[in-house]
Amino acid sequence: MKLFGTNETAARQRPVPQHIAIIMDGNGRWAKRRGLPRTAGHAAGSEVFRQIATYCRDIGVAYLTVYAFSTENWKRSQEEITAIMGLLKQYLFEALEKMERDRIRLEFFGDLSRLSPELQELAARTREISRKYEGFQANICLNYGGRDEIVRAARTFARQCVEGTATPEALTEEQFGSLLFSGGIPDPDLVIRPSGELRISNFLLWQSAYAEYYVTDVLWPDFTPAELEKAIAAFNSRDRRFGGVKP
Ligand code: IPE
Ligand code: IPE
Ligand code: MG
Repeated sequence: MKLFGTNETAARQRPVPQHIAIIMDGNGRWAKRRGLPRTAGHAAGSEVFRQIATYCRDIGVAYLTVYAFSTENWKRSQEEITAIMGLLKQYLFEALEKMERDRIRLEFFGDLSRLSPELQELAARTREISRKYEGFQANICLNYGGRDEIVRAARTFARQCVEGTATPEALTEEQFGSLLFSGGIPDPDLVIRPSGELRISNFLLWQSAYAEYYVTDVLWPDFTPAELEKAIAAFNSRDRRFGGVKP
């Protein structure tokens, strides 16, 4: 845990979690309440992602992982899927343009092979070019499912066993974790779900084993840095025991 942020305020005394994960939920309801199409909610939500990512960077969070599109979200209408993919493309183009200014390392969790070749290429380029930035990393979960991620890791491990480079008896949690999309990245400390739903929806199933949860009724397009601060304050008031006993 870092004790203060970088740019936001050198006087920040409250600790910030090292890794925050967010289920960016509630875009559709936000739009519906305003009599707008669901796609307008996604557009507003992607703007909020930009603000929250910058804010996290500025207060000294090291990793931000956001759930943008799940393995189950393909069940939605083609119109909605196309709109979400369009917003993603727009975001990646912008990220490439403003990379020197934003200095955010971008990574992607999920099976990107189901995305359009153009999006795959954009994601690969963004990842490659932003690798040099240190200090803050945003992981965007796209066509991501926690179960899918675990099955993929199991497949990789099985392949290693067949090839003779691994043995089942020697497998450790750490080794298995390294085969996940998040390999090498510390587990999330805080998982935030806006929009009031009390479920995990297939997000970071392995990694969130000891994450602190924070749920708010605020819909993602209405989420602000002040809301994030509330979540961080709640996190700071928790007693994390990891199965042990505090003296
Ligand atoms: C989250 O908002 C964005 C995605 C799942 C892509 P929703 O679209 O799920 O919004 P609600 O839950 O219908 O309000
Ligand atoms: C989770 O939200 C996925 C994303 C935010 C990308 P959903 O809206 O898909 O989850 P459910 O259907 O309410 O569980
Ligand atoms: Mg939803």
